Amino acid sequence: MKTRNFIAIAMASFFGLAMITSCGGGKSGDQSTTDTTAVKEVAAGPTAEQMAMGKAIYETPGKCITCHMANGQGVASVFPNLVGSQFLLNSKVLAVTQVLNGSAKVGNKTIKYPAPMLPQVGSADSAVAVINYVLNSFGNKGGMVTLDEVKDVVIDPR
Ligand code: HEC
Repeated sequence: MKTRNFIAIAMASFFGLAMITSCGGGKSGDQSTTDTTAVKEVAAGPTAEQMAMGKAIYETPGKCITCHMANGQGVASVFPNLVGSQFLLNSKVLAVTQVLNGSAKVGNKTIKYPAPMLPQVGSADSAVAVINYVLNSFGNKGGMVTLDEVKDVVIDPR
């Protein structure tokens, strides 16, 4: 377990580093040599800032890490594994909604858990960042969700 945690953390750190280095640099002074492939790659995933913001939320004591664990694998039958979660990977907007408003009213579940997940964050910015973080951490390579895609999600009053 310890070794697995360590590997997960090492992978997360490595990925974080790769994100930062892949987003840095790249002077675009010379118009004729603009590399559109590289630009597309960066645009296809969350920004390094978004990943850092998502990681900070995930690791805040009492937040995601407390139930879904440092390796994202949760606790069997109690807190779902986020690694390869079909709900997370296929219903990104619902995943953002769930982080904002809790799981009680969010459908599309294949497994029933003993308790619902309560609302976690209060802004679409934070919810999008943390979902993009989990989509791209712990071995998940699930792409990203944008603020524009969740603009119609209404945040329940607290
Ligand atoms: C107090 C424990 C707890 C915390 C904290 C928590 N969750 Fe959850 N999470 C759950 C439970 C329980 C479920 C299953 C709820 C259900 O299906 O009704 C769940 C489900 C999920 C799912 C759906 C997974 C699936 O396969 O159904 C995602 C995605 C998720 N949580 C992400 C997060 C993120 C991101 C955070 C932090 C912002 C977070 N959770 C914080 C307990 C927690």
